Amino acid sequence: MRSDRTADTPSSVAVRSPAGTETAPDDEPRYTRNAAAPVNGAVPESEAEIALRGVSKLYRTRDRETLALTDIDLGIRRQEFVALVGQSGCGKTTMLRILAGLIKPTTGEVTVARRPLWDGDRRDDDALRKLGLVFQDANLFPWYTVEENIALPLLLRGAGKAERRRRANELCELVGLEGFTKALPRELSGGMRQRVAIARSLSYDPEILLLDEPFGALDAMTRDKMNMELQRIAGATHATVVLVTHSIAEAVFLADRVVLLSARPGRIRSITEVDAPHPRALDVTAQTGFQEKVIALRGQLAEDEERVAREGGVSE
Ligand SMILES: Nc1ncnc2c1ncn2[C@@H]1O[C@H](COP(=O)(O)OP(=O)(O)OP(=O)(O)O)[C@@H](O)[C@H]1O
Ligand SMILES: [Mg+2]
Repeated sequence: MRSDRTADTPSSVAVRSPAGTETAPDDEPRYTRNAAAPVNGAVPESEAEIALRGVSKLYRTRDRETLALTDIDLGIRRQEFVALVGQSGCGKTTMLRILAGLIKPTTGEVTVARRPLWDGDRRDDDALRKLGLVFQDANLFPWYTVEENIALPLLLRGAGKAERRRRANELCELVGLEGFTKALPRELSGGMRQRVAIARSLSYDPEILLLDEPFGALDAMTRDKMNMELQRIAGATHATVVLVTHSIAEAVFLADRVVLLSARPGRIRSITEVDAPHPRALDVTAQTGFQEKVIALRGQLAEDEERVAREGGVSE
């Protein structure tokens, strides 16, 4: 949680899972299963803002079946900041899309504020109103101004012009884009465009913000700045945040818990608690405790990569 944290509390790092694999029997889809016991990331039901229970996702296409996720149990607390990391293809985006209600899990249950997100194939759209989404690509409409892009979700929800303008201006200030309300996306830098995308996702006051590698395309310095911005915005809006990132350092810097997924099929390999209070200054990244966590997580990632390489890749 974002408040009342004490600094320098030792982390409860990493339940390390034994290496090992198990091959699926002939009558099951062809993939190699990572037999390491998954880590259970559930939190007490009363604390969970979003919960995944026993979630798996099997993609079926014409020529293959891919078990992208399996055995996922994860609870995310109100106002918690959770980062999802893991190697490419391990199921991070899949998990975020499941959290966002964009895809239905093959097995298991998703609840938002204790309400099931799915009833058979029907999605509870009320639960979705709590969610704001930001993807790697800012996905702005090039012919709309910053203000119009930010206010688009409000337009779709039927808000009047004055209300849209007021909210867009407020959000421009929040994300540091004052003076750019009338600019077009092409007149902005990459970091500014991502800020517009974040502002847009905040326009309807989501309680939960889901971000899929929003800063992946930015240079290191802009990324540091955006991390500070995101931390500040998360604090100011009291939103619950789930961030997918390839950067372990970014994950440890921002998150209350870092969830590391193992390679396909994605399972929770470890959960790292980061107890330093928010807002965190960039120089916490130089502290020993911070660096130890980053090193431990990188080690786990490397082990996972080696395991996949030893197996000669995963047959799907
Ligand atoms: N729509 C789809 N249809 C079939 N397979 C899919 C689909 N989306 C993802 N997959 C497969 O599921 C696995 C997980 O994909 P996912 O996009 O969730 O990974 P990721 O961790 O987000 O990777 P990256 O870090 O590269 O973005 C991959 O093997 C991918 O090929
Ligand atoms: Mg992805």
